Amino acid sequence: LAHAAGKLWLGSATDQPGTGEDTDTLYQEILNDTHIFGQITPANYMKFFATEPEQNVFNFTGGQVAVDIAQDHGKYLRCHNLIWLSQLSEWVTDGNWTAETLTAVMKNHIQTLIIHWGDACYSWDVVNEALASNGSFASSIWYDVIGPEYFFLAYQFAQEAVEATGKDIKLFYNDYGIEDTGNKTQALYALIQEMQSRGIQIDGVGLESHFEVGATPSLETQIAAKQGYVALGLEVAMTELDIRFVEANATNCTGFAMQAQNYYDSVSSCIQVDGCIGITVWDFDDTYSWIPGTFPGQGAADLYNADFTRKPAYYAVGEAL
Ligand code: XIL
Repeated sequence: LAHAAGKLWLGSATDQPGTGEDTDTLYQEILNDTHIFGQITPANYMKFFATEPEQNVFNFTGGQVAVDIAQDHGKYLRCHNLIWLSQLSEWVTDGNWTAETLTAVMKNHIQTLIIHWGDACYSWDVVNEALASNGSFASSIWYDVIGPEYFFLAYQFAQEAVEATGKDIKLFYNDYGIEDTGNKTQALYALIQEMQSRGIQIDGVGLESHFEVGATPSLETQIAAKQGYVALGLEVAMTELDIRFVEANATNCTGFAMQAQNYYDSVSSCIQVDGCIGITVWDFDDTYSWIPGTFPGQGAADLYNADFTRKPAYYAVGEAL
């Protein structure tokens, strides 16, 4: 359905090895079925803590699991992520850095991963969640030590690495709160224009799309935001879609119908914008959703109930495609 709608994929995040998903047969069957998911994103195993646990000692084992799943089952792979404020290794957060030494760390990390996995990655999220809700750069070890230039440098280092591979690997910026037309989105439009005026490569924007049932941005708003990125010449992808119940006791017929409508509108917004290339859910079964762990008391955000039965939202996505 996604292909017939002119999209590259409907995909899912996945979190293996050692998280339960890898030994769950039913989970595996659904994930691997390319008629359901044509793309995956490793939820954790390509992040800094997993890939460079000690300085310049790289561990590709977990990330390779995702690469293998994608290759064995003919799926696209979004590689996630290179530079973020969170899930860093302790040697980074506890280090005693100057701008120069931390820039060298950033360069080595970015270039080693891009070159290692090459065009197994359709794209890399080079910088993740760099902006605060008011649109200014958020505090992070990278920003605090290096200053705003860290952002541009990250993409320059990534661009050099892509050129060294000679492959077509797309460089993305990924964030939340940029799915509507508010301050953060306007700030990102300006940031992209600054990158473009400096000749720095950016190919796409990942709209995480972690929404709440009953408070999901409207179809029109989501379309308008996406059109803004496309007007700047970029691809857009919905990269982490899930729509959570804020109140657990709202998971009744009415609640599930509203969730289905919110999924329908979100997916439709991608269908209706030509430069929106695909939609990725941030895992598909409530058992493995990240939401209850991060937002206590909230959940039921995914397309499948914990017992793998399909929610109204599952069918709504099919209809929207
Ligand atoms: C989440 C993972 O799903 C969790 O398992 C982990 O504990 C924290 O990170 N934005 C992102 C993702 O870009 O990398 C995050 O993934 C969810 C929010």
